[in-house]
Amino acid sequence: MPPTTDTTGTVRVRVHLDPADWSRHLAEETRRGLTDDPPWTPPVWFYDEVGSHLFDRITRLDEYYPTEAERSILAARSDEIAHLTGARTLVELGSGTSDKTRLLLDALWAAGTLRTFSPVDVSEEVLRTAATAIAEGYPGIAVDAVVGDFGRHLDRIPTGGRTLLAFLGSTIGNLDPDQRRAFLASVTDALAPGDWFLLGTDLVKDEARLLAAYDDAAGVTAAFNRNALVVMNRELGADFDPDAYSHRSHWDPVEHRIEMHLVADRDQRVTVRGLDDLVVDLGAGEQLRTEISTKFTAEGVEHELLAAGLEPVSAWTDPAGDVRLTLARRP
Ligand code: SAH
Ligand code: TRP
Repeated sequence: MPPTTDTTGTVRVRVHLDPADWSRHLAEETRRGLTDDPPWTPPVWFYDEVGSHLFDRITRLDEYYPTEAERSILAARSDEIAHLTGARTLVELGSGTSDKTRLLLDALWAAGTLRTFSPVDVSEEVLRTAATAIAEGYPGIAVDAVVGDFGRHLDRIPTGGRTLLAFLGSTIGNLDPDQRRAFLASVTDALAPGDWFLLGTDLVKDEARLLAAYDDAAGVTAAFNRNALVVMNRELGADFDPDAYSHRSHWDPVEHRIEMHLVADRDQRVTVRGLDDLVVDLGAGEQLRTEISTKFTAEGVEHELLAAGLEPVSAWTDPAGDVRLTLARRP
């Protein structure tokens, strides 16, 4: 199916998710997860319109340090990144509100090299809102937004040379090691030799701070987690009772990752109409894993980039050493 295109002012939104193909993919993934032992659900169910707003609130919580830490690095280093890369095209994967990205846009704009900004996200509403706001703030820049899956559609990303591909917010930590390998390989393939990749990663740190970042006192993360059940009820005809589950975050020191769960408070039988009436039984205390958030070491990030054929060129952390931005280049 050719992508649908919609041009509003200087914003072009291309939809690369064929609705039938995307629904089939999500249904297959969800079936795989719900029938696995232990069961899990794909993270993409978090990000409907309500979920995207809840995520935005998470980024402003005191406990959730990664957003402000990454913002502080971008505030200090965007000019340097602009001069190193001289990018004409900035592509952002999993862009959400593209809020922190404005620091990069400002620097590339001031350097006079930027021509195109291309945010890529699965969540169409959030993408449209962000793309429109950016087009208004940066006259003369073409905003070429893509509704797409960064796990499958990187070959359709516009890269006309001198491209900087940004993947911020530690979203890479939401992929398991095999998914990260495949994802980073597809990043290398999507870039031309000499193009750049900017990667934001959260770093391993004190367990109590990590746990608090994913289980805040105001319960916003818990609401975000349960919203995935509401979305599956709507999109897959499931009958989860969101109030029957408690939010739990857990640190796995072997995989060095936070795991988000929903724990059944009492016995639950769930039927999923959209998955041919799949029945899932969860006993009291049994849990669904809804997300992983891997934490990295500097060496680990460099190793994974090099293994994918990307060459780390510069890296920065915030003053507290909480998160790391790595700028790499396809040789
Ligand atoms: N980059 C922003 C937002 C991070 S939240 C920040 O740093 O704060 C993760 C974003 O990735 C959400 O906007 C979500 O809709 C998007 N997303 C999740 N899975 C995706 C996928 N497979 N393909 C594209 N975008 C995805
Ligand atoms: N990329 C974010 C992270 O790993 C996503 C996130 C933040 C998240 N808080 C969450 C995902 C809570 C699920 C539940 O930090």
